[in-house]
Amino acid sequence: MSIAQTETQTGQFGEESIWFKLSPLLKDPTNPMRILMQMAERYGPVIPVSMASQRVVLITEPEYFKHVLVKKADNYIKYFDGLKPIFGKSMITNDGALWQKIRMPQQPAFHPDAFADYIPYFNMAIASKMKRWEELAKSGEEVEMVEQTWTLAADMICKALFDRDMPFNPHVVFKYVKTYTDVMNHKSIRERKQAGDNTGMNEAETAKAVEAWWAVPPAVIAADPREEREKTLLKMIEAAVADPEVPEFDEQQAIDEIKQYLWAGTETTALTLAWALYLVSMHPEAADRIRREGEEVCPNRDPNAADYSALMYTRAVIQETMRIYPPVWSLIRTAAGPDEIDGKEIKEGDRIVLFGYGAHHNPKFWTDPEEFRPERWMGDAAKKRVKYSYMPFGAGKRSCPGGAMSQVENTLALSLLLRRFRPEYVGPKPAEINPTVTLTPRGGLYFKIHELD
Ligand code: HEM
Repeated sequence: MSIAQTETQTGQFGEESIWFKLSPLLKDPTNPMRILMQMAERYGPVIPVSMASQRVVLITEPEYFKHVLVKKADNYIKYFDGLKPIFGKSMITNDGALWQKIRMPQQPAFHPDAFADYIPYFNMAIASKMKRWEELAKSGEEVEMVEQTWTLAADMICKALFDRDMPFNPHVVFKYVKTYTDVMNHKSIRERKQAGDNTGMNEAETAKAVEAWWAVPPAVIAADPREEREKTLLKMIEAAVADPEVPEFDEQQAIDEIKQYLWAGTETTALTLAWALYLVSMHPEAADRIRREGEEVCPNRDPNAADYSALMYTRAVIQETMRIYPPVWSLIRTAAGPDEIDGKEIKEGDRIVLFGYGAHHNPKFWTDPEEFRPERWMGDAAKKRVKYSYMPFGAGKRSCPGGAMSQVENTLALSLLLRRFRPEYVGPKPAEINPTVTLTPRGGLYFKIHELD
């Protein structure tokens, strides 16, 4: 692919994305969510705002999340400007009958019955991360944790879902991807472009980033299968391409689906694990309890599917992490037609922002929402939750197909890594958030790795 070809794709890079439009509201450096939280408190659950010639409607109440995502889902369609180079025409960007045709053949890969088959590959990827951590513990160097967990998440997906060893350098590739998904990048590039300034991140560099990213799916397809397993997601995608009944699922669709999994399925999982390691580093009693639970559940062997079910506290830590730091902090839709929510008029073309982070931190739904309390997720307490007040994986027909699987990946990783290591957070306290398309740590999360006796 030439740079000229990619330029047509990167042309969208500086356009006004919804995240760019929201960026003036995310400016408070100590807590970028403060303004949105205050708006919700002051102006109610449905707030239409006119921003740069575009109506944006901020929604913060669970019952209206349900309205948009479930009850009237057909009126609120996906909206993915500025991210086409990342996702191509993959399922996550589609709607209606086409979306259904693309999602259906892949759905069985995410059925809970499939997880038992994946767990040995998750364990394998975790073992290889532990080898790396052994070296890091010896050298004593500081590491950025999202980079660490992102490599792990990508290795897990490649091994378990694609039957491949990771045939690319994730550190390089994912760094490139972030240039597209960082809100502030969109903003500063746009502002520089408007001022006629092409310094900094320019078209050639964005083209280089896209080129690196686009090279990944063909590398995955071309890599040697590890074991020629029959029941993998990659095999399902290949079967869909070969199926004459679904002509829309062509080779480009297959490539774009792989792109989608390698981004949507890895960064979110990686952020969750990195934030969980940060939280347990700040709460050593939780780390100890995770270690004890792991020792009790599977003292001398790698965990299997039954062990995963028994790691209840560890899983609760992952759930609580996604409440405090939801990787997807808001869901975005466009109104296909007029509607009314909470007495407020919704016009065709309005951009709808469902502020999941706001619900996760609302004292109406959570006692002491800023406190890290994994116990909320254990026993009866979890059953009393208000529906749709917790939405790390979205809701309705477009909810995340990989959510349950990501909890298996992260529960096993947290359990196994903590049994052998003590990751010590060495960055500024508390860590600050940076709302890009995903909720990232500002400046990264730096750790030193210590090996336990
Ligand atoms: C902690 C981990 C994860 C989080 C927080 C997460 C979150 C989400 C959310 C919120 C959505 C819905 C977006 C919307 O409604 O606009 C979504 C969709 C999606 N996720 Fe995940 N996800 C995670 C892991 C994964 C994994 C492991 C995979 C697959 C390997 C995956 C694949 C997808 C796909 C394909 C979609 C699009 C579904 C569709 O449009 O029908 N995700 N994810």
